Amino acid sequence: TPISSPDLSTCAQGTNLNTQQPLDVNCCPPFSDKIIDYKLPHAAHLRLRPAAHLATEEYIAKYEKATELMKALPDDDPRSFMQQANVHCAYCNLTYDQTGDPSEKLQIHNCWHFYPWHRWYLYFYERILGKLIDDPTFAIPFWNWDNPDGMAIPAMFVKENSPLNDERRSQTHLPPSPADLLYSSTAKTDPNIIIPTNLTEMYGEMVRNVSNVEDFYGAKYVVGTAPDPGPGTVERGSHTALHVWVGDPRSPAGEDMGNFYSTARDPIFYSLHANVDRLWSVWRGLRGSKPKEFKEADWLNASFVFYDENAQLVRVRVKDTLEDVKMGFSYQKVELPWLDKRP
Ligand code: C2O
Repeated sequence: TPISSPDLSTCAQGTNLNTQQPLDVNCCPPFSDKIIDYKLPHAAHLRLRPAAHLATEEYIAKYEKATELMKALPDDDPRSFMQQANVHCAYCNLTYDQTGDPSEKLQIHNCWHFYPWHRWYLYFYERILGKLIDDPTFAIPFWNWDNPDGMAIPAMFVKENSPLNDERRSQTHLPPSPADLLYSSTAKTDPNIIIPTNLTEMYGEMVRNVSNVEDFYGAKYVVGTAPDPGPGTVERGSHTALHVWVGDPRSPAGEDMGNFYSTARDPIFYSLHANVDRLWSVWRGLRGSKPKEFKEADWLNASFVFYDENAQLVRVRVKDTLEDVKMGFSYQKVELPWLDKRP
């Protein structure tokens, strides 16, 4: 049976997955049982997500304004910045029972729902921001960390007093340090080593280490599966390394970016994930006639719930996430400098 949308009334205290202790924050969303089955609206205008390092001043001002308005919404508004951050916590930190098997918890990471779930999450986050500034074409920026020109934390996220900044970040990894996509406790510091190693890593995650669909997406996860059956290449590799690399070693457990419950409190989270999402689209484009997704109903029919830009609770399905353009967004075209980086 596919994973189906959680019953919000089962949301309970979660687990801090870095410490394995009970979570000391409540990240359950405001309750509602009025759920509408979401239909993708006809998109009159495409939202074109720009590379963050190429974004114009005008765009940055717009994004700052929208984020400021989101941060100013009342705390109990499901569209407020903190409630949006908590969406990630609730779907990750074992707060929900699996619908159909209360003995197992719901965790959308480290399994085949990683890409579709995050795509929906960004989708509503972007629509809420766009609504707040009354711009139906507003699109979130992506952090182009698979390109040497975009590997550092993009400048818009480190401006003083910007709503896009966050104090809880590693102070030794601020720009111009290029992100280390293989970051671990033994840190490399020489950009001349980090950059080529990153490109080889991306080639591995996107091409060399992917022989079948599951390698890329992650392992099967259905009702009754224990959390974390196994991540795909990008989730396991560059994606997780970046979370830890941005997170603040001075905070108790990797906060903000390096801990699941707090990661989406850092606005850069949404740009890290916009790039993960973009890489999903890129990967599909590279597949040619090879399968681009699972054909099993257990994947396609899985569902989640989110609050939309009108604060309406909606049920969404994995099968509606396959084409970004059908969802009304796309990505600025940039080069793929890792594509010829066979080790
Ligand atoms: Cu939901 Cu990058 O984790």
